[in-house]
Amino acid sequence: MLKIAVIGGDGTGPEVVSEAVKVLRRVGELEKIPMQFNEFDICGERYLKTGITITDDEIDKLRNYSSILLGAIGHPSVPAGILEKSLLLRLRFEFDQYINLRPVKLLPGVETPLKDKKPEDIDFVVVRENTEDLYTGTGGFFKKGTPDEVATQTAIYTRKGCERCIRWAFNYTRKRNNPKGKHLTLVGKTNVLTYGHDLLLRTFNEVAAEFPDVKTDYNNVDACCMWMVKNPEYYDVIVTTNMFGDIITDLAGIIQGGMGVAAGGNINPEPNGCSMYEPMGGSAPKYTGQNIINPIAAINAAAMLLEQEGFQNAAKRINKSIAFVTGNKMKSQAAGKMGYKTNEIGNLVCENL
Ligand code: IPM
Ligand code: MN
Repeated sequence: MLKIAVIGGDGTGPEVVSEAVKVLRRVGELEKIPMQFNEFDICGERYLKTGITITDDEIDKLRNYSSILLGAIGHPSVPAGILEKSLLLRLRFEFDQYINLRPVKLLPGVETPLKDKKPEDIDFVVVRENTEDLYTGTGGFFKKGTPDEVATQTAIYTRKGCERCIRWAFNYTRKRNNPKGKHLTLVGKTNVLTYGHDLLLRTFNEVAAEFPDVKTDYNNVDACCMWMVKNPEYYDVIVTTNMFGDIITDLAGIIQGGMGVAAGGNINPEPNGCSMYEPMGGSAPKYTGQNIINPIAAINAAAMLLEQEGFQNAAKRINKSIAFVTGNKMKSQAAGKMGYKTNEIGNLVCENL
């Protein structure tokens, strides 16, 4: 039984997640995968009413699920940082979701701001380390609020953290088996971060020796931003650190057609690991409750969930159906301009599975 915890969250999160669940149920019937969905009321709305973001009991319950499907967490009345830190980042750290997987694929019919680039040119994956770097919350203030104030924010890299992420990325590149050649690019900033990214590059080169079939490369992150816009076809799989990965995956998200389609997975690949999949679009409060938001990203996240859970066929069916719907049905990926309502897009994906 595939047990999935569902967190609709805030704003349009519940609307897009319910389309993703609809598609999961349908593909589950077709592929004979028994599934069970349990909803959790975790969101900014609840925090405003009760002051609770998530309880220890909820954390313990969620731990028993191999997969969580998340809509969006974010509320205009909650100050920045609270929900991010106490929900999203807490879950990543509590469940040691050390891989942030972000496929970047331009689907048929989807518009990219890059001139003359086609679906065959934009098809790569970013593997972002998800538990270290500037995200550990290490640092502090000294003489806060005085003219002599000092603030530190420390980037932490460990051998274990670098190695497990890099090895996973090599294995992923091997499995992805790109017909144009298996190619893994490390993205960092070794010319300036001469300690942390020295450890990163040494680890990368050592692990590379175990994967002679994978061609490797190194790019500085600033150069990567240029190449990604100029020659996205150059990339197959990118592995990078947490902070740089955060930034370059927003760039990548836009070149694949924006927040209506981009999805991500926070993955703990260990046998009893709990992973969390989400559309990248956020809670989009101004569109809430109108049935006009694009659910494709959430459905993409559901396909990633199935792929990581080992249901490759089911994942492929969803991906093919999504490509059919974007290529032949939808007028646009923008909210309100799709030519269909949110729930109609979910229905179309179900009908074309
Ligand atoms: C993301 C988000 C988060 C991050 C925020 C909301 C904490 O931007 O998943 O990319 O920085 O990782
Ligand atoms: Mn981000």
